[in-house]
Amino acid sequence: MISDVSSPPPQPALSQPVASGLTNAAIFLVATIEPGPEAEQTVRELCADLSSLIRGVGFRDQQGRMSCVMGLGSDAWDRLFGAPRPKGLHPFREIHGVHHAVSTPGDILLHIRANSMDLCFELATHIMARLDGVATTVDEVHGFKFFDNRDLLGFVDGTENPAGQGALDATLIGDEDAAFAGGSYVIVQKYLHDLTRWNQVPVEEQENIIGRHKLSDIEQRDADKKPYAHNVLTSIEEDGESLDIVRDNMPFGDIGKGEFGTYFIGYARSPDRIEKMLQNMFIGNPPGTYDHLLDFSRAVTGCLFFVPTADFLDDVTPESPPVAANPIDSPSTPDQPAPPPRGGSLGIGSLKKEAGHE
Ligand code: HEM
Repeated sequence: MISDVSSPPPQPALSQPVASGLTNAAIFLVATIEPGPEAEQTVRELCADLSSLIRGVGFRDQQGRMSCVMGLGSDAWDRLFGAPRPKGLHPFREIHGVHHAVSTPGDILLHIRANSMDLCFELATHIMARLDGVATTVDEVHGFKFFDNRDLLGFVDGTENPAGQGALDATLIGDEDAAFAGGSYVIVQKYLHDLTRWNQVPVEEQENIIGRHKLSDIEQRDADKKPYAHNVLTSIEEDGESLDIVRDNMPFGDIGKGEFGTYFIGYARSPDRIEKMLQNMFIGNPPGTYDHLLDFSRAVTGCLFFVPTADFLDDVTPESPPVAANPIDSPSTPDQPAPPPRGGSLGIGSLKKEAGHE
């Protein structure tokens, strides 16, 4: 009798927990990497050890729902890994519209979430200790849950996020960039609110600006929505299909400094859809019909990162990548397919995913 010796079907790459959901606390940390190969090697070592650090801290409080996502900026990708590079990765593009979306430096993003700040703080401390002397923190925000997931403008934030499979479909790269399948893109922007002026706006007009009712969080009827409403300008479609993203915004503030903000974080399988929402908000759709939320909220940072799979990070090796002439301009050609991404050894995770499509 011949037994079936065929190998089990390959497993898809393990993604980082981009859609792990809202928590009570979060730390958003953006850092730049110092020049030089030593710094790059230290960051690569951190990539490979990140899952171990997360296990070490998270296991101490298993009800704490701690998670961590690491993103890498466009320049950092070239320095750390060279070619091939994720198709959609580029520096954040600033927007000069009715309002200004700035682009600010950022090589590494850490998005740490948990039910309590102690877990976030502990993990951030361990990670940054590993980067001591080789990376500089350029922005650090400690976000908190504000009553029923409201932002500091008083509106519930996150209601229309896709859930379950919808969240995975919205955020995880598929066949469109098979070498990086299971990865994701993330855009962050730190917004500061002029709460004094906002609180002078009648609630009815605040509701028109957001497109939802403030107390109940019920969406306005389509016929009643203003063309400048936030939820009108951020609802986008392609070929009749809505293009979703997953947001995990958090309020933050410093009362003594009069600083009240929302840290915007949006994950998507392609940066295009978040960029389209930003264009609608800052330039307007049609141009001039911009998001009136921006009359009260100013973006003071703006960065785009690629989120490789957890398997990719695990496989990173300390060695430097081969020198590519100009990695950003040298994607694969039809005759010459791109080599597997080298987080390090083999990019095993991504290969597993690719094989899964055969
Ligand atoms: C000051 C910054 C921001 C604040 C305070 C804010 C707040 C809100 C609120 C209160 C809602 C309605 C409830 C919900 O569905 O979550 C909402 C919806 C939404 N926001 Fe924002 N947001 C901000 C920035 C952004 C940015 C920069 C983007 C995208 C680039 C964005 C994309 C969305 C999307 C896609 C929705 C759901 C629209 C729908 O399908 O109804 N938001 N936001």
